[in-house]
Amino acid sequence: MNIKVKNLSKSFKTQNVLKNLTIDFPSNLTTTVVGPSGTGKSVMLKLITGLFEADSGSILFDNIDFTNSTKEVRSSICRKIGFLFQGAALFDSITVLENVMFPLIYSEKKDLSNSVMVERAREELKKVDMLDYENALPGEISIGMRKRVGIARAMITKPEILLFDEPNTGLDPLVGQEIYDLIKDLKRESKFTGIIVSHELPEVYQVSDKIVMLYGGDVHFDGSVSEFENSENPVVKQFKNGDIEGPIKPNQ
Ligand SMILES: Nc1ncnc2c1ncn2[C@@H]1O[C@H](COP(=O)(O)OP(=O)(O)O)[C@@H](O)[C@H]1O
Ligand SMILES: [Mg+2]
Repeated sequence: MNIKVKNLSKSFKTQNVLKNLTIDFPSNLTTTVVGPSGTGKSVMLKLITGLFEADSGSILFDNIDFTNSTKEVRSSICRKIGFLFQGAALFDSITVLENVMFPLIYSEKKDLSNSVMVERAREELKKVDMLDYENALPGEISIGMRKRVGIARAMITKPEILLFDEPNTGLDPLVGQEIYDLIKDLKRESKFTGIIVSHELPEVYQVSDKIVMLYGGDVHFDGSVSEFENSENPVVKQFKNGDIEGPIKPNQ
């Protein structure tokens, strides 16, 4: 499923967070949106999932305008989206297995029997190597394991769109690499349009088919990974090198 964001703007009070943003997220490829922190990456994901309402502009899923659709069309699109939140965001008081089953209860397939849902959840847990922990509570497992469970929960509805907000923030490099390996496996095994939000360069390149850089509410780069790596654009260069001097100012 192709996603297009067209002339999208979003402000909070006097702060213009996104200014006339236009980005194409091609079908069945993974686009990584990078940029300094506070630049509107998470806000963009929340607009795409309908958690926030845009001030102007449109969001098209296979050319269907999400922003002007009926509630029915919007929820049918939302059901195609899997979302791995920053920090995994599992429910603390239910087990790993129940967390993974959760989306099925609210999906179109809500007539599934409990035993079928358990079986499906176990399949997804197996893929992320977490079956041994099905009865654990999220508080009893490591953050890396919680992220893996979060991926299983996002995958259980077989989404056409997968969104990852900072999949590796808060993880040590080894666990971080495990998550990248998992995303690579997912890309090999299933078809989905991926959007990853990250500021982890260069590690995130390995799971990216395309890079978009946001800064100050605008797109400063849109192209392939190698074009990004070779870009001489001063904003891109400063961000890649982590330089203090340059056009990027703190907290803008
Ligand atoms: N619900 C909200 N209300 C007010 N301001 C918000 C809200 N969500 C995000 N913002 C502001 O929007 C800006 C971009 O935030 P965010 O998208 O989270 O940045 P990031 O690129 O780090 O993900 C920040 O200045 C943040 O304070
Ligand atoms: Mg963010």
